[in-house]
Amino acid sequence: MKPITLLTASLFALTASAQFNNPLSIPPALDVDTFDLVVDEHVHQFYPGVSTPTYGASAEYLGPTLILHKGDTAHIRVHNDLAQVTSMHWHGLRVPSEFDGGPQREVLPGEVWNVKYQVKNQAGTYWYHPHPHELTAEQATFGVAGFIIVQDADEAALDLPRTYGVDDFPIVVQDRRFNTDGSFVFGPFGDSVLVNGTPRPYVDLPAQVVRLRLLNGSNSRIYNLGFDDGRSFPVIAGDGGLLSVPASTDRLLLSNGERDEILLDLSGMEGDSLLLMSFGSELPASMPGSSFILWESSALNGIDFPVLRIRVGAPTATPVTSIPATLVPTTPPHLGDVSRTRYKSFSGTGMAGMGMFYINGLQFNMDVVNDTVALGATEIWRVENASDIAHPFHIHGGSFYILDRNDMPPPAWEQGPKDVVLVDMADHVRLLMKFDDLTDEGWPLMYHCHNLMHEDNMMMLQYIVLDANMAVGDAADAPSISVYPSPSAGQVTYRSTFTVSEIFVMDQLGRIVLRRAGLSRTSGEVDLQDLPMGTYVLVMRSRTQQARAVIMRE
Ligand code: C2O
Ligand code: CU
Ligand code: CU
Repeated sequence: MKPITLLTASLFALTASAQFNNPLSIPPALDVDTFDLVVDEHVHQFYPGVSTPTYGASAEYLGPTLILHKGDTAHIRVHNDLAQVTSMHWHGLRVPSEFDGGPQREVLPGEVWNVKYQVKNQAGTYWYHPHPHELTAEQATFGVAGFIIVQDADEAALDLPRTYGVDDFPIVVQDRRFNTDGSFVFGPFGDSVLVNGTPRPYVDLPAQVVRLRLLNGSNSRIYNLGFDDGRSFPVIAGDGGLLSVPASTDRLLLSNGERDEILLDLSGMEGDSLLLMSFGSELPASMPGSSFILWESSALNGIDFPVLRIRVGAPTATPVTSIPATLVPTTPPHLGDVSRTRYKSFSGTGMAGMGMFYINGLQFNMDVVNDTVALGATEIWRVENASDIAHPFHIHGGSFYILDRNDMPPPAWEQGPKDVVLVDMADHVRLLMKFDDLTDEGWPLMYHCHNLMHEDNMMMLQYIVLDANMAVGDAADAPSISVYPSPSAGQVTYRSTFTVSEIFVMDQLGRIVLRRAGLSRTSGEVDLQDLPMGTYVLVMRSRTQQARAVIMRE
């Protein structure tokens, strides 16, 4: 069976809406004390009769929606049943950096990572996804990602739709490309749109006010969302929770990793239907997904295409019928408290998936901490884009507010707390952020481009937050190992700043090729003689610390 080409071509047909006949998949929502996320290989049929090898988190593709409550402690066990290393990041959440799940915090094949954090974020739409060194885009493409919905008292006090799967829906938009055998083609762009993993989806919504939690979970494509009837709709929340008042717009530019919650008033529309569209023809040439001729090609680039068909049915028994005039007051940090402005400049040239891009001329080096921020500091980060393409900038460790973009206030729907900001070519934005959490020793936080292809291609740096009143040095205190000689023909010697109990050697695909456990030492030897020539990563661990080094076997 090879219906793929046919199905993709149908996207162009004006009758597309009639062919959006697959019921939208809604990931199950879990509201429990301890979550188990089993990351594993699966096979999933996106199209009937066509089997696609996938990864999922306790599912064939994507993962469950985790419902968290502000103030509570979340326990999550991440099981890595893949044959390669992974990690899991709680995008947008303020968690101890030990549990942030960046590329340093590897979850090795067969390992279970126990995560525990207090939920500090306000109600909003967040998400989890893997973040392993150079493997993020691939593992995300295969399907490891899911929603996190945080609930709190302020949000609960508002008359908003919040019945999951009834009037409140998670909507993750991803583009994927399929080989004729059904397998994914890994790359920046796809030519099929999946919503919650469903191609050409429809959803039945009640004729009342409903809430859509939109997430761009694509590798590189930027969406320009709106509706086919041209309506305006209120945005009630951005990346980091509710706005102070709903902000009306008819277009929502959603870059990679960004979330927006919108309300859709379907009152009186029973029996009608509506299309959620991406108006790609309106994207500036600099944005991945536009018609720019030099992009990696995709049938979806530069065109307007439907994302989701909405069929309006009968209202529920207790419908929300109006849009609240006000939401929750936002609390940006005080401008008067700003102690420092940091300048971050993007440079480089390339395309959506290829090229070399830099932040301040630098690329990711796991052994280098690029910024040290004082605990409690309020800072302005001025991010400018001197490269030739737009980049969505993301920072771990909390939310920021956009002060201005090209010296103008951002649109109203971008005026709440955020953790991703789209910085177009030649743009500059100023972000206001307060750093209220110490980072744990040895676990820096990342900031990077959220175009996953760029992120994996090292457009990423890291920072730590230190208590200025404590007599600690800079990164010198981070756990580290030195390994020599490299290149080596066999035996290598290591020295570590901490007591190593376990040693792993991984190949370039993140597979463990050698493992030594039950150690207790700060120096020793590892024998690589039996390994083929090539580059390896040596990971050394104690119960609480981890360091790594790259070695060449020749
Ligand atoms: Cu959504 Cu560093 O990531
Ligand atoms: Cu993040
Ligand atoms: Cu980028």
